[in-house]
Amino acid sequence: AVDQRVDSLMALMTLEEKIGQMNQYNGFWDVTGPVPAEGDAAMKYENLRKGLVGSMLNVRGVAEVRKVQKIAVEETRLGIPLIIGFDMIHGYKTMSPIPLAEAASWDLAAIEKAAHIGAVEAAAAGISWTFAPMVDIGRDARWGRVMEGAGEDPYLGSKIAVARVNGFQGNNLADPLTIAACVKHFAGYGFSESGRDYNTVDIGTSTLYNMVLPPFKAASDAGARTFMNAFNVLNGIPATGNSLLQRDILKGKWGFEGFVVSDWGSIGEMIVHGYAANGSEAARLAALAGSDMDMESYLYVKELKGLVDAGKVDVALINDAARRILKVKFELGLFDDPYRYCDEQREKDLTGHPDHVAGVLDMAKKSVVLLKNDGNLLPLKKTGQKIAVIGALATDKDSPIGSWRGGADANSAVSVLEGLQQYTGNQYNYSKGAELVTEPATFLMEVKINETNKSGFQAAVQAAKNSDVVVIVLGENGFQSGEGRSRTDITLPGVQTELLEAVAKANKNVVLVTMSGRPLDLSRESKLVPSLVQAWHLGSQSGNAIAQVIYGDYNPSGKLPMSFPRSVGQVPIYYNHKRTGRPNDAGNGIVFWSHYSDEANDPLYPFGYGLSYADFDYADLQVSQPEKGKVVVNLKVTNTSQLDGEEVVQLYLHDIAASVTRPVKELKGFEKLMIKAGESKQISFTLGEAELGFYDNEGNFIVEPGEYEVTVGGSSVGGLSTRFTEK
Ligand code: IFM
Repeated sequence: AVDQRVDSLMALMTLEEKIGQMNQYNGFWDVTGPVPAEGDAAMKYENLRKGLVGSMLNVRGVAEVRKVQKIAVEETRLGIPLIIGFDMIHGYKTMSPIPLAEAASWDLAAIEKAAHIGAVEAAAAGISWTFAPMVDIGRDARWGRVMEGAGEDPYLGSKIAVARVNGFQGNNLADPLTIAACVKHFAGYGFSESGRDYNTVDIGTSTLYNMVLPPFKAASDAGARTFMNAFNVLNGIPATGNSLLQRDILKGKWGFEGFVVSDWGSIGEMIVHGYAANGSEAARLAALAGSDMDMESYLYVKELKGLVDAGKVDVALINDAARRILKVKFELGLFDDPYRYCDEQREKDLTGHPDHVAGVLDMAKKSVVLLKNDGNLLPLKKTGQKIAVIGALATDKDSPIGSWRGGADANSAVSVLEGLQQYTGNQYNYSKGAELVTEPATFLMEVKINETNKSGFQAAVQAAKNSDVVVIVLGENGFQSGEGRSRTDITLPGVQTELLEAVAKANKNVVLVTMSGRPLDLSRESKLVPSLVQAWHLGSQSGNAIAQVIYGDYNPSGKLPMSFPRSVGQVPIYYNHKRTGRPNDAGNGIVFWSHYSDEANDPLYPFGYGLSYADFDYADLQVSQPEKGKVVVNLKVTNTSQLDGEEVVQLYLHDIAASVTRPVKELKGFEKLMIKAGESKQISFTLGEAELGFYDNEGNFIVEPGEYEVTVGGSSVGGLSTRFTEK
């Protein structure tokens, strides 16, 4: 029925109007790319009235959305409604943890719920389409956008991609509380050379097919309605003009029926890349390659009609793109009611709803990763302990909201100090120690870090001396990660490590809580403290979540979705690396093996790692092969402690010898489960061809006979292993 409605409408449309559907403009205040020129607003309104705009981004709030929608519906010839896009990445007003933190929960139901909460609030604010989930694999902690994805692993990333798509879209796109998802950035953006944003990407086909593409495919299979291409070149061809990616793989092999939007200005940037000679060529190459909608390059409206008239772009491509875009608009119900997302009362009722607050608090607790807890310093006791709280981030109400903060109000998070105070009602001896920033940070400008001022150290040391325990909160400002936020130094910024050194000298019982949008190099810090809690940027409820974890009312269950390096020199570092021909030291001190002279090969904290206040024991690993292409793995996990706790049981495979070499380990299954104190649970994984196989260098999925090693455990390191042979 939708296809018929699209056809009837298409029959009424001029070529210009179809091209208009392929045009997206930024709204008039938020800017999430280079600032548009003055005077652009007038041009945009004019084109909107002419029916030459299919979508706008960064228009938000019912009143504002209604204004532009009214122009589209009432003043254009055919009254085709706009689809309104916005980067609702980890919440709209009630903020969930940054996506990388959510990934640390390995809790797919919680992640789906968090995405749904964001969708409900965004939909209530007039938005019908989010530019999420970002499913780029992140191996390089220097790259600021790792905060936006699900980490380094394609299996975990695929599961999370699906959970997020389902959370945004629900099972009925026409429901006014759901929005269309946009899977981005297609493809390879996470492999920007040297971690510098927008940089060149050059990767082999094996990495492309086995590491980069799987989460995109999973999201497409799950019914994601839109994709966004990317700023980067992939092996010399800009992703935006890449027909292998968009036409052959996405719309061809995968049968994707939605539409592809460019990234901000990325059609025009093909000229800067040196791929297109001018705007006309850029528009032609993008359209040919399958970019259906032009975000902020202004080139489709300017060039496409001329290109069609000159026979340089087949009108069938324009029809296909317009049809795809209109179809999503029909599915969203925008033709039945263009103001479907514009209900002032709903906006009031749903924004910041208590259920949403509870949902993001739950997500935040589950996202915390306990990295170290020597001598069981944690959990703290609610009475009888004098506690100092130190660090600028301990009272920071803004940083926990993180980057890509949707429509959140500045300074709207619960700080750590507030969380602790509200939770216990106790007094804490707070001392800042040092400022982290010298000026309030913003989305558009570089963050200014305090590199020198240590005038608060003495007071902090005194507070530490006067206390039984110190909770020190250090890390990155919320705007130090995200787009355009690459770093070459991923240690704690500014004078924070020195502050920690001074404090740790004064008191041995230090709990270090780290906030960051990426894995940091915590080598020095981890040696200085008995307890280390990775708290990312946890969103609106940050302080409350941290308080519950620190006091043990929530037993931490997070596991790292990205390796934490020992130093930036190890980056990119990831658990699913290849073996190399010389993986081992022969033990005779000779240098000819794959290693560093000055640092170990392994990370400080590996993928999949995270402690609980409970202890888990793995036993009875058994493998059976009931038929070809099917392997059943059974094991027993026992909680050997006195505390109930959740464990993420992880299964890794290693295909020992293959026609294309395989990584030393690959996650192929996991289950997060609550195991009560003293209880044992029997766990069973069934592996099929999807888990046993891989993509060859032509992009064909194959399963080869041969030997595999299977490992199960609570991390990518250690665990129980055995071997089986696939016939
Ligand atoms: O969605 C984003 C994208 O991830 C980066 N460039 C801008 C887009 C729209 O804000």
